[in-house]
Formats: sequence, C-alpha cells, structure tokens
Amino acid sequence: MSMSSPAVEIVSTGRYLPDRIVTNDDLREFVDTNDEWIRTRTGIVTRRLAREDELAAEMAATASRIALERAGIAPDEVDAIILSTATPDRLLPSTACDLQALIAADRAMAFDVQAACSGWLYAMSMGEGYLAAGRAETVLVVATEKMSAILDWTDRTTCVLFGDGSGAAVLKRGDGSKGIVSSFHASDGRLAELLWRKSGGAKVPLTPERVAEREHLMLMSGREIFKNAVRSMAQACDEALERAGLTGDDIDLMIPHQANIRIIESTAKYAGIPMDKVYVNVDRYGNMSSASIPVALDEALEDGTIESGMKVLSATFGAGLTWGAMVWQF
Ligand code: COA
Repeated sequence: MSMSSPAVEIVSTGRYLPDRIVTNDDLREFVDTNDEWIRTRTGIVTRRLAREDELAAEMAATASRIALERAGIAPDEVDAIILSTATPDRLLPSTACDLQALIAADRAMAFDVQAACSGWLYAMSMGEGYLAAGRAETVLVVATEKMSAILDWTDRTTCVLFGDGSGAAVLKRGDGSKGIVSSFHASDGRLAELLWRKSGGAKVPLTPERVAEREHLMLMSGREIFKNAVRSMAQACDEALERAGLTGDDIDLMIPHQANIRIIESTAKYAGIPMDKVYVNVDRYGNMSSASIPVALDEALEDGTIESGMKVLSATFGAGLTWGAMVWQF
C-alpha cells in the first residue's frame, strides 16, 4: 500500500512558554505532595506557570508571531485563525478574536475550537479542510492554555499535573511532497464527567455558593482517564496509520500528547514505536492540554529531532472525551 500524498503543508511553527519554572517541591506550598510521587506517577519534574495577569491570547500572540515570521508571512495575509483552548480568557467573544486583534490579522476570520487536550489536532484538521477546499490560502492554527487559571490549587490529584503554554503552526497548500498525510478524530460525550468543570455556563450557572465550593474549577477521575487515554490513543494511532497507508514501522518519530509518561509509554508500545523514537517534554512542562503537541512539534523541529524526509505520528486524548491522531510527512 502506498502512502497518500499530503495536500496541506506545515510551513512553520512557533511556541511560547511562560518564564516562571515551578518544581514539584515548589507545589508543597499549596498541597501535601512530594517530588518522588509526582515523578514516579507522571514523569513530571517542572512546569511553566503564567503570571496571574498574563492572558491566553497574549501567549498565543507570541507563538503566532514567531510562526508567521519564520514563514515570512505578514499577519494580514492570514485568511483564518483557528484557536484551540480549554481555558479561554473570557466566555464571549472567542480568544481567537483577541488573538486576531493582538497580531492585527486584519483579513482573517477567527474562531475557537474546544476539544480539550485534543483541540489542536482537531483544529489542524479544520485548517487542512479549509485549504484543501480552496476556501483559504493561509491558515494559522494555534493552541493556547492557561491551565493554572482553572486548576483547584487545593486538589493534589489535579494541580500537580498541568502547565501553561502556547504553540502555533502556519498551514498552506503544498506540492504534495510533505504535510498532513492522514488524520482520525473521535469523541464520547457520555464520559464527559470524567474530566470537567461542574459549574459555569448555562446548565449550572455560577453562584457565590458554587464558587465557594470550587465547582468552577477542574475535576478529574484520574484512574478512569488513564485507562481511556491508553485505549483511545491506541485506536487513533491504528486508524491514522491505516488511512495513511503506513504501519508503526514506517514512523520515524512519535509526538504524543504529553499528559503522563506512563500513558506515553503504553501508547508507544501499542503502536510498536520504541521510546527512543518518541518525543517527550512532559518532564519539563507537565500537561499543557492542547498546547502540548504544537510546543513539542516546534521544539522537535528546532532542535533537529525532526529532519526532512521523516514521517511523524501524533496522537492525543482529552476531556469530552475526545481523541485523535495525525500523520505528517516532513
Ligand atoms: N502527591 C502525593 N500523593 C498523591 C497525589 C499527589 N499529588 N495525588 C494523589 N495522591 C495519593 C492519593 O490520595 C492516593 O492515596 P491513598 O491511596 O492514600 O488514597 C494515592 O496517591 C494513589 O492515588 P491514585 O489516584 O490511585 O494514583 P494513580 O497511580 O492512579 O495516579 C494519576 C494518579 C492522576 C497520576 C493517574 O491516575 C493519571 O495520570 N491519570 C491520568 C490523568 C491525566 O493524564 N489527565 C489528563 C488527560 S488529558
């Protein structure tokens, strides 16, 4: 079986990480935890946390400017901004519109995608669709997450796992030699309450009492999420590889969602990809939700881990539940 040829190219990428590095021991200021527990259960050593006044849109603007500059594309050449976030700066309007204003992408339509940790791969597929259909010439696909704003800093089962950051990519139609080869996306809303915010929104509006109960913050059933993550990412890898006409043996590098080293190891094992071909940065950044994959992709391109000619498999999983995978040819 021959590999399908990619219609849409990843022209450039960029990333932004807040300056503040927070160690596992630093978290003892908030919760009863320790470095050994966090390292062995998750692989996380440090994470970056945004300043209190730092906005998700501002982080996205820095990552986007870098990606646009590397592509030699002016902001007013962008036709569409598709921004993934589970932590919008406000509920209305979208963070994408704030980003549009910050970078002066004067001709771009802009909207948010909410698929939690899977959001950037979902957004990449949407960008690919606009370009392949001839509805846009240049698309900016961004993920930005200020997880620190929705964490319950008294809950040690969640607050130690996450970090803040942003990643961006510029997409254009290519010549068929490189870019997005295949993708697969799925969801199961019956499992919404495994990873959610109980209050806020029309269904359960915020009240002072609900805020006092911390219901506006993130809640997670860790063990259930773990099991579902491994199962779903394994399925997504199978589907995306099959659609690409490839097997795990053809893959030069895997960039999985960076939630937990044990989930990453199990997924790689299932996909038949040895750990020396898996890009890992969860140790440095924790889980940056949908920003994890574009930040890892940008680092892997910059540090030379990804070389021209390589085939890369990315897989993700998150609240919703949502999951997916994508194959890229570089
Ligand atoms: N520090 C120290 N102890 C902690 C702790 C922390 N930060 N968090 C939990 N514990 C304790 C628990 O209270 C529990 O103690 P108990 O046995 O006395 O009740 C013990 O550690 C074991 O907790 P458990 O939840 O069973 O641990 P686990 O091995 O399942 O690991 C996770 C917990 C969260 C690391 C793991 O379930 C996981 O990674 N799940 C997936 C989460 C995820 O990636 N979510 C995002 C998806 S996009």
